Amino acid sequence: MSFLRNAWYVAAWDEEVPKEGVFHRRILNEDILFMRANDGVVHAMRNRCSHRFAPLHLGERCGDEIECPYHGLKFGPDGRCVHNPHGDGSINKRAHLKSYPVVSKKMLLWIWMGDPVSAEESDIPDFVGLDPDNYAINKGYMYTPCNYEFMTDNIMDLGHIEFVHKGLLGSEAVREGDVEIFQEGNVVRSNRLTHDEILPPTLDVVYGSGGKPVDRWLDVTWYPPSNMQLVVGVTPSGNPPRIGKETPGVHLMTPETEETTHYFWANARDFRRDDEELHAQLEDGLRFAFEHQDKPMIIAQKEAMDGEGFWDLEPLILACDAGAIRARRILRKLIKDETKEKAL
Ligand code: FES
Ligand SMILES: [Fe+2]
Repeated sequence: MSFLRNAWYVAAWDEEVPKEGVFHRRILNEDILFMRANDGVVHAMRNRCSHRFAPLHLGERCGDEIECPYHGLKFGPDGRCVHNPHGDGSINKRAHLKSYPVVSKKMLLWIWMGDPVSAEESDIPDFVGLDPDNYAINKGYMYTPCNYEFMTDNIMDLGHIEFVHKGLLGSEAVREGDVEIFQEGNVVRSNRLTHDEILPPTLDVVYGSGGKPVDRWLDVTWYPPSNMQLVVGVTPSGNPPRIGKETPGVHLMTPETEETTHYFWANARDFRRDDEELHAQLEDGLRFAFEHQDKPMIIAQKEAMDGEGFWDLEPLILACDAGAIRARRILRKLIKDETKEKAL
């Protein structure tokens, strides 16, 4: 079993679910239908009719109901079958669809894939920066044909940015920076602080460092199963660290299947919020980095593994891996404990 079920996953950016019609996305191998009811609240149910398994997103939305495109059963937003046009119209309770808890929080829709009684809204991480009233936000979605844990490794280990994002996001100072790993319960923090770094040109423009040396912090917080906040900040060299211009971001990985991942990312800033040119430059730079630098590397890594498991290959562990390995071990334990509990 490669997924933790009793956990909140990002299902979508809130704006992805339309007011009318429906939206569907496969999460943890289950195709899920999202419907925004007329009161604006989003609901989620299995996108598979209980009769002959037709996908409901092909059906017609009638008010707050969805009609199956095959033989016309109708379902309410809670997944309950509310209309059977056949025979005496009676509704067998087996007609109802599985529904899932959904929460809208700070621009994101979160879904609980496990036992609904254990779903606690307060367990959803509270990310800084997803707040359009106070930040300008670049954000996106990237579909990636790779396992979600490799995507987590990529963010937890920012030692890669000097090599994969040469001249764009990284420099030698990143490799030489101080790295500290903390664990609080099942949350892992992987903090990095560079010293006397000359930022690559794009970042120099963003942070306005004028080509002068800076100290840069890149602090990642990982929440199981695969959601991360990355706060990057810059201050002139020698100033007290972690006080300066900051850009809080998120990197949120939701497994579609064992081999494919939905990747939601954002990068926010509370300075030069109205600078459209800067906003567009950041958008292009970040998309380029994720789509054309990280993604091909992670795909190539997957192909080179020839279908063998990560731990089976006995990976060499380098100094930069501490945070990522810690996260992998915690997740493995959580999944193991959950599987044991289920078996009892
Ligand atoms: S498959 Fe949906 S009503 Fe028959
Ligand atoms: Fe990267």
